[in-house]
Amino acid sequence: MSNKLKSAVVILCMSTLSFSFSTIALGQKTPSLKEVFKNDFAIGTAMNTVQIEERDPKAAILIPQQFNMATPENIMKAEIIHPQWDTYNFEPADKLIEYGKKNNIKINGHTLIWHSQLPGFARKIESADSFKLFFTNHINTIARRYSGKVFSWDVVNEALNEDGTMRKSVFLQKLGDDFVTEAFRLAQSAAPNTQLYYNDYNNEQPAKRAGCISLIKKIQAAGVRIDGVGIQGHWHLGKIPLKDIEESLVQYSALGIKVMFTELDIEVLQRNFQGADVSQRMNNAASLNPYPNGLPDSLQQRLASDYAALFALFLKHKDKIARVTFWGVNDGQSWLNGWPVPGRTNYPLLFDRNFEPKPAFYKVIETKEKFNKEK
Ligand code: XIL
Repeated sequence: MSNKLKSAVVILCMSTLSFSFSTIALGQKTPSLKEVFKNDFAIGTAMNTVQIEERDPKAAILIPQQFNMATPENIMKAEIIHPQWDTYNFEPADKLIEYGKKNNIKINGHTLIWHSQLPGFARKIESADSFKLFFTNHINTIARRYSGKVFSWDVVNEALNEDGTMRKSVFLQKLGDDFVTEAFRLAQSAAPNTQLYYNDYNNEQPAKRAGCISLIKKIQAAGVRIDGVGIQGHWHLGKIPLKDIEESLVQYSALGIKVMFTELDIEVLQRNFQGADVSQRMNNAASLNPYPNGLPDSLQQRLASDYAALFALFLKHKDKIARVTFWGVNDGQSWLNGWPVPGRTNYPLLFDRNFEPKPAFYKVIETKEKFNKEK
């Protein structure tokens, strides 16, 4: 090789090296959850309209960096997507599908059948026959339209009471006990290649879990497909039910289905009940909003340890888990600022109000590094 050629090769190698160093250095500034957990489970976020329309520039950068799945926080719920008997409002959901394609983010449709956020007309239907027609049309129309476009559906959301019995929802009253199986049967034929899930809160708790297992077995016994169960995961600081979660992972996966954590957030403010019944409210009082100007460091650290313990458990059982989805991108956008007490300043997620990673974020990443070392 001539000297000239040699030095050209050296220069080329050096510039390639320095290029890759600088990209690594840039990338290392903030690790990416979806990259860190890419061999373990998908990482999702709930998305609101502003984020779907990319009207929030910081969210528009952060979401594709950190997440590979998204669940619409509201726009696929019946009251929005199906406001009148014959009227469907597909535009927002179509935008989300486009957003997903563009950013390599798979979409979990949320949700076909849920007693909450139902359109007014559906609540007013009196005859069982008409209600059945609404139920059938609703699932067929929406599941067909997004077949092959969404990766998965929360086919039925929150059909159970805390004691594991069936909730006396309008669906149960009008259609009887089998409505869950029927919803999956319809979804299976309307969306043959879409993953179909049952989703609930507190279904890691023993009594509700037992009801959930019976429900899943019933669907399976009818020869109808169910691919997974979603545990919402609206938990509380210092009270993560790790033992119940672990037992649930083992018991649900024994049914031959995947487990998803679908709406993860950790409440740091006072609440006098557990779970996520959206119709439950608490009276407002200044004492219920103690940290309007920032979360004290001691609580940041406790939040970080709770998230670390949770992710250590997820990693231990990663073979059973398909996805972990946070219910929101950053603290400022979390529904827990408005529920069950309006106007609070809450801190349940991994990114703060400026989209900066919190100590809990770094603890989650550290948990994975530790897991790799101990393997
Ligand atoms: C919540 C949304 O985050 C809020 O914006 C909306 O006002 C009420 O619903 N369980 C679910 C989610 O399955 O759909 C709920 O989302 C939170 C509880």
